[in-house]
Amino acid sequence: MLTVKDLVKHFPLKAGRFSSSEEKIHALNGVSFTLGKKKTLGIVGESGCGKSTLAKAILGIKPPDSGSVLLSPADTRMQYIFQDPYLSLDPKMQVKDIITEPMRAAGMITKREVAREAERLLELVGLPKDWGTKYPHEFSGGQRQRICIGRAISSRPGIVICDEPVSSLDVSIQSQILNLLLELQEKLEISYIFIAHNIAVVLYMSDIVSVMYAGYIVESAAPQELYANPMHPYTRLLLSVVPEIGKNKRIFEQKITGEVPDLIHIEPGCPFYSRCPVHSDKCRTAIPQLKPGEKEDHSCTCWLYQ
Ligand SMILES: Nc1ncnc2c1ncn2[C@@H]1O[C@H](COP(=O)(O)OP(=O)(O)OP(=O)(O)O)[C@@H](O)[C@H]1O
Ligand code: SF4
Ligand SMILES: [Mg+2]
Repeated sequence: MLTVKDLVKHFPLKAGRFSSSEEKIHALNGVSFTLGKKKTLGIVGESGCGKSTLAKAILGIKPPDSGSVLLSPADTRMQYIFQDPYLSLDPKMQVKDIITEPMRAAGMITKREVAREAERLLELVGLPKDWGTKYPHEFSGGQRQRICIGRAISSRPGIVICDEPVSSLDVSIQSQILNLLLELQEKLEISYIFIAHNIAVVLYMSDIVSVMYAGYIVESAAPQELYANPMHPYTRLLLSVVPEIGKNKRIFEQKITGEVPDLIHIEPGCPFYSRCPVHSDKCRTAIPQLKPGEKEDHSCTCWLYQ
């Protein structure tokens, strides 16, 4: 349904006392993947690795500097759900107008059909259907995220990009929202790009997981395979901070330490070099290419496997 090829996005740094105007933040450095119908691609990585930039580049909110985004069929709709359901709902609008907004924008319904469609959508996301005349402040965080989900699916999108959809919610509510997303995927045949910094959540939700570091995808695999046989040292570290991981913990016991990557002054070679517990001189020579692992759909960029 979606083919993303070599997406690059660099943000110009404002000229200041310590920087020239030529400097750039290398937020995305050539990201590629494909997404099939009714599938979920999970994207995981720490804060600042480029997850939201990738989402916005795909949606065209922040167009990429280069690379391509190809939809098949070409008229496939894309919608998104963002992290904070408090900020993403207009406090002055009634819920029935919020939840049907993309349908109205696309000319799919008339004004007279708003109430009926809102009832249908509210039921679909597990809220009482007669709550359409309420305002966002009358809802809890979890209920607001349900409204955001209802709004996202209202225009029958083929793809929904979920950017940290549960990280602002209470832990007790998170699994309800995740399961709602899975239920809707089953019912409506939606494909998701599911973004989170919590690898356990991404493993739970996804058909394929891609691990991002410093604007690169460094490893991709099915969740069971990634969990059992992580290849990239960064993935191993991410998994070692998840409890009960087992055998890999012995080798990579430490937490992810060291400086967060400098996205402005780019050093040659592997972007993970400065924090990698198993780096060698070779790693400074060039960026390792994405190479397949033993299992199908498992690939990794690391000199250990080249
Ligand atoms: N509009 C912008 N202008 C300048 N720099 C930006 C802009 N948006 C993002 N960046 C920078 O690009 C890098 C990637 O940011 P991004 O928001 O994509 O990360 P993220 O992985 O979504 O992080 P988080 O988990 O905190 O949401 C960061 O260094 C960020 O400061
Ligand atoms: S290429 Fe080298 S520095 Fe990079 S992750 Fe692999 S071993 Fe570590
Ligand atoms: Mg983000």
